[in-house]
Amino acid sequence: MFNNNKVNYILETAIHILQAVLHSYDEAVSDAHVLLCHVMRIERSQLLLLQDKQLSTKQVNKYQEYILRRLQLEPVAYIVGSVQFMGLEFKINNNVLIPRCETEILVETVLQIIDKQQLILDLCTGSGCIAVSLAKLKNIHNIVASDISEEALVLAKQNAYINNVMNNIHFIKSDLFNDIVNTKFDIIISNPPYVTETEYNVLKDNLKYEPKHALVACDNGLFFYKKIAKCAIKYSNSTFILVELNSKNVHKIKDIFASYSAYTNIEIINDYAGLPRILKAKIENTN
Ligand SMILES: C[S@@+](CC[C@H](N)C(=O)[O-])C[C@H]1O[C@@H](n2cnc3c(N)ncnc32)[C@H](O)[C@@H]1O
Repeated sequence: MFNNNKVNYILETAIHILQAVLHSYDEAVSDAHVLLCHVMRIERSQLLLLQDKQLSTKQVNKYQEYILRRLQLEPVAYIVGSVQFMGLEFKINNNVLIPRCETEILVETVLQIIDKQQLILDLCTGSGCIAVSLAKLKNIHNIVASDISEEALVLAKQNAYINNVMNNIHFIKSDLFNDIVNTKFDIIISNPPYVTETEYNVLKDNLKYEPKHALVACDNGLFFYKKIAKCAIKYSNSTFILVELNSKNVHKIKDIFASYSAYTNIEIINDYAGLPRILKAKIENTN
């Protein structure tokens, strides 16, 4: 793939090859840079200064392997094994969904309303990106984070450890609320699976490396919203619930929550692309 081992030549070649498959120059540039920095163990800002550097044969071979994996549409986060979320470092593998920037809006919204003493539940925690970010950025000490996947929980615990918030979060393996003791939480948060089967079939090539159970929800993408809306009331301490939305199902999801009188002040918050992304509601304690 590469006839020369100088950084600027290698980068230019990789960008050219990636662009043909990714159909985006910007994405090709970004991916080629991130992967090369990972091989060279340098920050992206250093790359510009090292354009004339010669890579070792080992480095060239490693980079070639990474580019070939990316050409198969394997996400960069899985290739390098980590991702940045809310400015923090998270370990990632293909047992968990790669945290999305849309989910940062969920975290930012929670950060605005959260109080340090509150008891938080993060359902469907995956890599732990939401729970760990809240613990780290607001020093929240009382977080319960749950997921049905044992493998996801192993990684979420590692992420709590890496970010030095291991003592702030209690991890539980649970099918939604099934194994959560009947505690009253102050804030319930979830980014549940919400992609419909039809959407998944269209996006399959781009999503094929991520676990399907983390993405797809039956009942036209509504299964988890219905379950969460029904059960969360019992676990609430008269405060807030925030869920990430499938923007294409926003009206149906809003209707699900609105069908329970316990949910009031239902608000939809848009993401940076202007798409409805977060549902925030107050849960009135009916007990
Ligand atoms: C969309 S991912 C969200 C992961 C992470 N919170 C994030 O925002 O990146 C959904 C997560 O829900 C988990 N999940 C799927 N079905 C579940 C269930 N029945 N109960 C609990 N968690 C479930 C998956 O394992 C996956 O980690």
